[in-house]
Amino acid sequence: MQSPVALIPQLAAHLVAAGGKRIRPLLTLAAARLCGHQGQRHVALAACVEFIHTATLLHDDVVDESALRRGAPSANAVFGNKPSVLVGDFLFARAFQIMVADGSLRVLDILATASATIAEGEVLQLVTQNDTATTEEQYLQVIEGKTAALFAAATEVGAVVAERPQAEAEALREYGRTLGVAFQLVDDALDYSASQAALGKTVGDDFREGKITLPVLLAFNSAAEEEQVFWRRVLEERDQADGDLEKAIALMQSRGTLQATIERAREYGARALDALSIFPDGEERRALAGIVEFCIARAR
Ligand code: IPE
Ligand code: IPE
Ligand code: MG
Ligand code: MG
Repeated sequence: MQSPVALIPQLAAHLVAAGGKRIRPLLTLAAARLCGHQGQRHVALAACVEFIHTATLLHDDVVDESALRRGAPSANAVFGNKPSVLVGDFLFARAFQIMVADGSLRVLDILATASATIAEGEVLQLVTQNDTATTEEQYLQVIEGKTAALFAAATEVGAVVAERPQAEAEALREYGRTLGVAFQLVDDALDYSASQAALGKTVGDDFREGKITLPVLLAFNSAAEEEQVFWRRVLEERDQADGDLEKAIALMQSRGTLQATIERAREYGARALDALSIFPDGEERRALAGIVEFCIARAR
């Protein structure tokens, strides 16, 4: 994060010091160890993965106009949009410097591709926003891009540094991808059901922006006619008044769509566990299985 331009470390440290779960670098470290890696390359690459994540958060909070991140005012709320976008670019560039220092073109390919895919996912989300005709397939494409791609790359890189056979890299990639989808499904349910203190983000952010996430999509598709009128007003026209978020939550509860979203996350979690089955049982495999459990348990 170091730079002679003081605002850069200042803004980056604001976000980094607020913590975060650091799931993605953990995936890289655990995957490398699962594959028997003995060196230290995975450590810098884990930091690189977290830098990419941090850069996307800075950009995402500007795009989403979010005021809260990791239980603290977001960087855009404290420093403004422009510094947040630019420091996000700086961290992205730093991540690529770390990859160049590592020297593997294969690692560079995996993480550069993931970075492009994340941006595609975020842009696709932007164009499906406020559109109640969005399909489940499109929604899945968005979350595979914006979230699962980095989870998949984080674990694949662990196998690649260990120089293990392709089958292991593919299994870990599949584990990361399905875990990432499960993670985002839970996150999309929590956006309506968590407490702000537990989430560290503003509850109802997705609603306010008219994001077509799975709990909303399922509620709209099972809505009676007058409910469809409500969803169209609040999501498409973004004409929202006091009490509308509560009404939306009540509708989702009556249709069981938050539960259905969590159920879907469990299915993806089970697929992530399946992907680990080619590895022998041991401490590292159990740690990766534990991350699946942790991500699903956030829903409780
Ligand atoms: C937030 O990711 C962005 C999403 C993909 C939902 P995390 O929930 O992993 O963020 P931190 O790093 O723990 O704050
Ligand atoms: C975050 O997506 C995904 C990226 C940062 C690429 P969201 O917008 O759904 O996540 P939160 O709710 O802000 O963490
Ligand atoms: Mg956001
Ligand atoms: Mg977003």
